[in-house]
Amino acid sequence: MADPIIQIKDATVRFNLDAQRHKSLPEHLRGFLKRGSRFQEFFALKGVSLTVNRGESWGIIGRNGSGKSTLLKLVTGILQPYTGTVAVSGTVAPLLELGAGFDDELTGRENIMMNGLILGMTKKQVMDSFDDIVSFSELEQFLDVPVRNYSSGMRARLGFAVATCARADILISDEVLSTGDKVFQKKCEERMQDLLSGGTTLLFVSHSADAVLRVCDRAMWLDDGKSVMTGSAQDVVDAYLNRN
Ligand SMILES: Nc1ncnc2c1ncn2[C@@H]1O[C@H](COP(=O)(O)OP(=O)(O)OP(=O)(O)O)[C@@H](O)[C@H]1O
Ligand SMILES: [Mg+2]
Repeated sequence: MADPIIQIKDATVRFNLDAQRHKSLPEHLRGFLKRGSRFQEFFALKGVSLTVNRGESWGIIGRNGSGKSTLLKLVTGILQPYTGTVAVSGTVAPLLELGAGFDDELTGRENIMMNGLILGMTKKQVMDSFDDIVSFSELEQFLDVPVRNYSSGMRARLGFAVATCARADILISDEVLSTGDKVFQKKCEERMQDLLSGGTTLLFVSHSADAVLRVCDRAMWLDDGKSVMTGSAQDVVDAYLNRN
């Protein structure tokens, strides 16, 4: 029986490109004299709809800038749609940009606790999962080093280990495994398979078609903020790879 856990209906995300630009002083003055700045609108998502049922594993594929990370941010609630609706009925463990949620000045050990608490775990749950997190991330030697001295792969290891221990209903992974080495990628894929067998729902953004095919049953192809195709991971990946 279909049991929707994420429902995105006709969602549009609008950014103001002008607000992100660094302006010169004369430009600022001109804007001020005109009472307010210009608004240069840009739509990162244009009427995207997606229904994800509990326990499904979705790959989101598409070129750089096509809107994949923006779509994930709608699901985590970091972004609100400008038009359309987003409904999520479950807890979310997001693995977005590398090391997001880490405090660079804190040690690996301290970040495990902080990240676990942010993900909704109790202190006891983090303590109980601590050894598992450390051994999965293979960072025993570096636990008391500030995370600012970690390599990007080490951050990814720690982030993945904590997020997958949080046992959220929905795991969201945005290109997190790409900095990890092959052995670690394999370990992460196995852990994702375990979580999926336990009923977790997965949204997986990756530029690796092979990884999407290994991990996901379903896929969505985004291009220029629009959904080009949704369907079985195999069909969508084939269509994407054979595009002109
Ligand atoms: N805060 C923002 N302000 C303005 N534009 C933004 C903002 N965030 C994203 N964008 C724009 O939205 C578009 C989609 O970005 P997004 O990060 O979702 O792409 P992506 O598919 O994840 O790309 P990649 O494969 O490179 O990670 C891009 O053109 C990007 O420049
Ligand atoms: Mg992205």
